[in-house]
Amino acid sequence: MTKKILILGGSSFIGGHFLNRLGNQATGTYNSRKIPGGIKFDAVRQNLSQVIKNPQEFTAAVILLGDTHPDSCAKDKKRSELLNVKSIKEIVRTLNQWQLPLIFTSTEFVYDGKKGNYTEKEVPRPILTYGKQKVAVEKFIQKICPQHIIVRFGKVYGSERDDGTLFTDWINQLKTEKSIRVAADQIFSPVYVEDVVRAILKLLEKKAWGLYNLGNESGFSRLQLLKMLISKMNDKQADGVKITACSIDDFPLLEKRPKNVSLNTNKIRRITGINIRPVGQVCELIVNKLR
Ligand SMILES: NC(=O)c1ccc[n+]([C@@H]2O[C@H](COP(=O)([O-])OP(=O)(O)OC[C@H]3O[C@@H](n4cnc5c(N)ncnc54)[C@H](OP(=O)(O)O)[C@@H]3O)[C@@H](O)[C@H]2O)c1
Repeated sequence: MTKKILILGGSSFIGGHFLNRLGNQATGTYNSRKIPGGIKFDAVRQNLSQVIKNPQEFTAAVILLGDTHPDSCAKDKKRSELLNVKSIKEIVRTLNQWQLPLIFTSTEFVYDGKKGNYTEKEVPRPILTYGKQKVAVEKFIQKICPQHIIVRFGKVYGSERDDGTLFTDWINQLKTEKSIRVAADQIFSPVYVEDVVRAILKLLEKKAWGLYNLGNESGFSRLQLLKMLISKMNDKQADGVKITACSIDDFPLLEKRPKNVSLNTNKIRRITGINIRPVGQVCELIVNKLR
């Protein structure tokens, strides 16, 4: 029997892409949004060993589940801590007992955003609750798991219509709105979801245990990305939409966002050898696909 990869959070945006890519070489879990062939797993109420009876069927586990929205984490710290820290530590303990290598998906928001172009050597100083929760789990994994991969992503975007990500959302807005307000002062390193999946699978294949940043090779603001999209669309209707630059602080967010969380991604490029596509290239692909 060929062993599979366990996708914890198979119903997540990124999890769906792992499952599409891996087909019958993976099994995914879900909590509230059922997925075909998936295993129901509520990480807050259940231990992983209650739902996975034959861990020897798996070669590794990718941890994607959690509360992934910074404001929701900040709004109810107790609830989000229970899921994002306590439950995930419990999962890590179980995977460790099973001696299964694990991949933990972390975030650009572990950095404080004061200088940008962060390498993995930078000491994380998160200012958001969500980032603090990720760092707590990272530290725990580094302490107890010999075979782990931690990947800190920039904002992940897709290319499917209505997938609710950066460019596909703007394509919809450009069709229906007369004006769009976007932040010009938050810099980040977006990454295409297909490249996230490819990079993680390559790290696993190479057993390249350790900590990695993953994102575009340079940072962009939302304003720059929206202008890039409009220029590639070459569409009169989109050209007529009024774009207004503002500050990320102008949005009613519960916690102030770090301003420059751009990532230095040289390490993952060197170790995997894969082409993590520049955002401009993928933006063009999205425009052609959804035209
Ligand atoms: N998307 C990004 O831009 C981005 C950027 C940086 C890092 N990341 C990290 O990448 C990972 C995946 O992100 P995503 O955006 O793809 O996630 P997502 O779409 O927000 O999905 C969250 C997942 O968590 C599951 N979940 C929620 N509560 C649960 C519970 N009590 N027990 C078990 N599962 C539960 C959800 O299951 P149901 O839906 O079935 O309830 C879903 O599978 C996360 O670790 C995130 O922090 C994402």
